[in-house]
Amino acid sequence: MSRDLMHSAEVKDLVREAYRNVPPTTAAVAHKHYDADELAMLPQSAIQRALGVANHLRYAGIVPGETVLDLGCGGGIDTILAANRAGPAGRVIALDFLPEMLERTANAAAEAGVSATVKPLEGELESIPLPDDSVDLIISNGVINLAPRKARAMAECARVLRAGGRLCVSDLTIEQEGLPPEILTQPAAWAGCIAGALAEADFVHKLERAGFSGVEVLTHEPLSIDDCALYPLFSDEVIKLMTELIPADKHASVAVAVVIRAHL
Ligand SMILES: C[S@@+](CC[C@H](N)C(=O)[O-])C[C@H]1O[C@@H](n2cnc3c(N)ncnc32)[C@H](O)[C@@H]1O
Repeated sequence: MSRDLMHSAEVKDLVREAYRNVPPTTAAVAHKHYDADELAMLPQSAIQRALGVANHLRYAGIVPGETVLDLGCGGGIDTILAANRAGPAGRVIALDFLPEMLERTANAAAEAGVSATVKPLEGELESIPLPDDSVDLIISNGVINLAPRKARAMAECARVLRAGGRLCVSDLTIEQEGLPPEILTQPAAWAGCIAGALAEADFVHKLERAGFSGVEVLTHEPLSIDDCALYPLFSDEVIKLMTELIPADKHASVAVAVVIRAHL
């Protein structure tokens, strides 16, 4: 038990350090996941900080006036797009455990003209500092895979959502036995969302155990080694190691980005 908790703390520390120091990307990640209309609503700072893995906002059905919680908001790209959809009567709570990320989101929201409805909130997925039944919709992009205690994070999602509330997230899934241990134990592979990812069936099962119903996996998009190289979390050295150690027939799909939707 205490060994597990130490492992959790170590993982969280390595994720914090990796993201605190993460340099901006080129606009390549944003251009991969967002269309021209979406990109037009975004300041360059948010575009160059995009670190997500898919576009769940297309499936989230945000209604004007809703209270949305963006878990692991990073540089704010989805927070801003959600704030545009929720409108002036809505609210987007942008949660991240790094003050540096919250400052980036706040600055980008101000540039995008949505700071009146964006509320940055420092906190962890595993202990969300919000009351029970206080949120209509939870969104998240490339974050749940980083949490060492996923069941706990999902239970927290169920607690803060009101009855009938929804969750709609993008995340990576993986069949762990498919990747060599030398890759799975690389800190960069955890920080890069691969080593901590669940198998799809496990993700669905954990959501159901947390109390979610109607769990749907809406999209599947393979993540190749070349895709990994778009993210600044993966150094040239780690990409080289992945290329050498992962069998060639798996290079085009080292993980699968999914959009998952569920409701309470
Ligand atoms: C891969 S980035 C994604 C950022 C953003 N969602 C996007 O699409 O660009 C992951 C973000 O989640 C935050 N994060 C990771 N683990 C977290 C945790 N356990 N609690 C709160 N935030 C976390 C990191 O600080 C980082 O900003």
